[in-house]
Amino acid sequence: MTSTAATRRIDSEAVTSGPPNLAVQPLDGPLGCAITGLDLSRVVDDAAAARVRDAFIEHKLIVFPRQSLGEADLVRVSHLFGDPVVHHVGEYLDQDFPQIMRLSNNVVDGKPLGAPNNGIFWHSDQIFREQPMLATLLYGVQTPLTSGGDTLFSDMYAAFEALPEEMQAKLLPLQAVHSFVASYERNYVRARSLSAEDKALNPDVVHPVVRTHPQTGRKALFVDPDSVTRIMGVIPQESEDLLSFLFAHIADERFVYRHAWTQGDLAVWDNRCLMHCATSYDDSSEIRLMFRTQTQGDRPV
Ligand code: OGA
Ligand code: MN
Repeated sequence: MTSTAATRRIDSEAVTSGPPNLAVQPLDGPLGCAITGLDLSRVVDDAAAARVRDAFIEHKLIVFPRQSLGEADLVRVSHLFGDPVVHHVGEYLDQDFPQIMRLSNNVVDGKPLGAPNNGIFWHSDQIFREQPMLATLLYGVQTPLTSGGDTLFSDMYAAFEALPEEMQAKLLPLQAVHSFVASYERNYVRARSLSAEDKALNPDVVHPVVRTHPQTGRKALFVDPDSVTRIMGVIPQESEDLLSFLFAHIADERFVYRHAWTQGDLAVWDNRCLMHCATSYDDSSEIRLMFRTQTQGDRPV
């Protein structure tokens, strides 16, 4: 078969077009992009899906502003980023769409509408699993107008690359212990307490301190103050010193984008190369309600 330059050009345009107004714009910060011109309440065609996936890998965080999504839409969109995983904290799951967990300070008829203080320490989602999450999708249904509730994102490629070479070489062979129990007890203070059986079912896991992203091949720091209990193979004092250094380093503002939410924003981030962290807001005067899904990742190497 022969193909002329003209037909090749038409083919490649067909692959990369998507909706005519689709635009990918870097955010005002060291990471992330906004994608506009794409209505996620409608089915996303293959061409647009390919551009979204490319932007996800390149920018690590995508914000889709001014969306109007129902629960079914959010679940459908989640499939663009992998296979949705039902969250282990059952109290806050949507009745009809268990892939969706709600985050909220709102209480209706004495029942919390969602998890009230999730993610206030720097973390990567479900890092305490053998196979932590790939993407997380967070949709702002109702967001504080004046008092914060922003989400911080930090670039773990940049954080690793900014380290002196000797420190990089020191970290590369190290592994850290991650505790489901420690993370649960920090985040779900008002959910039910863990039973001995829950704890036995969720043993500690070990991950490399520096992981290699399976799609880009780039190295990213992979330790978080939410779940790490120690670095293996070094004396306790050295583990503590290294961790306090790394925990300060990953939060360095050089690597951080702060997202101030507007109702209708959908944020999607890559947990394999970003850490993130919630910030406080005036939960006595303002309501925050977010819908959240997450997709299955692979074992970090
Ligand atoms: C999460 C999370 C942060 C926030 O949903 O995984 O960490 O700002 N959320 O709600
Ligand atoms: Mn999180």
